[in-house]
Amino acid sequence: MSGDRWLRQAWYVAGFADELAPGGLLARTLLDEPLVFFRDATGVPRALQDRCPHRFAPLSAGTLCDGGAAVQCPYHGLRFDAGGACVHNPHGTGVIAKSAAVRSWAVVERDGLLWWWAGEAATADAALIPDFSETHRAPADATIRGYLPTACDYRLLADNILDLTHADFLHAGSLGNGAITRSTPTLTDLGPRSVRIVWASSGERAPAAFDAHLREPGRPTDQWTDVTWTAPGVMLLRVGATLQGEAREQGIDTCNLHLATPETAGRTHYWYWSTRNFAIDPHANAAIKPIVEFAFVQQDKPMLEAQQRRIGTADFWSLKPVLLASDAGAVRARRKLDALIAAEAAA
Ligand code: FES
Ligand SMILES: [Fe+2]
Repeated sequence: MSGDRWLRQAWYVAGFADELAPGGLLARTLLDEPLVFFRDATGVPRALQDRCPHRFAPLSAGTLCDGGAAVQCPYHGLRFDAGGACVHNPHGTGVIAKSAAVRSWAVVERDGLLWWWAGEAATADAALIPDFSETHRAPADATIRGYLPTACDYRLLADNILDLTHADFLHAGSLGNGAITRSTPTLTDLGPRSVRIVWASSGERAPAAFDAHLREPGRPTDQWTDVTWTAPGVMLLRVGATLQGEAREQGIDTCNLHLATPETAGRTHYWYWSTRNFAIDPHANAAIKPIVEFAFVQQDKPMLEAQQRRIGTADFWSLKPVLLASDAGAVRARRKLDALIAAEAAA
């Protein structure tokens, strides 16, 4: 796919933190790099290149030894520590060649997520990780999480979340009813790596999925749809409504993460994590879950994959996409990402 140079000096989500059980090995390809994740002896997540330097077996098919201190290759038993150095050779005299090493990567566990730095580990800057503590703090009975591997470029997913007018069409009848499209978004530039776009409306009924949870369903509301994108592909989305004229705190609010990490060119890991400040109980959660999943699994994912099939391997801009008023956030994000990648290439 043309135009696919990844941003390297950046954090990408590698998964939910609880996907990585102590003692386990998690294989995951990010940005075309096969990686193996595990927890070291102190429980801290680590990542190594998932390819043994001997005959290139996947280390993720091996075993974690010494309580997490080393990974043993499944094929001939070389062991590598969390820094990627070979620490045990069961063959011959046991001498360890200098070249017997795999690359190690920087990983941080924060707010219930695994963050992987795609550049040199020494350059990893944890201050660049966005604060998602509010989502992490939400009660389990107000939380819906999921993973959707999607056959599309990761930037299409950012376009999707940064232009929530699609809810009025693709999710008409559940998450959208036209109010977003009828309102004018406000764009805020948050520096070279971030942008925020907010839609606000007043006097419209809330979409069905929200209206049902208002104190007085059916009444006119004030609504907000508020997305902050951080390069390369993480988004925090707040959507909510309150009865018209009432304070936001009296209404219903949702706080949602949409996390896109390229697996390869044209394939994206997509994690979503949706939380809310209402209907906090297991029965409500069980009732809301299929509504959310239907939108993501049956509507967004097929649309993203269908778009990608139409785009094929063409460069997005080469197709001269028509620009609409609602594209302001998505286009700004793409321009920022292009600028960051160009700056890295020039450096
Ligand atoms: S392939 Fe790993 S030890 Fe041989
Ligand atoms: Fe959607």
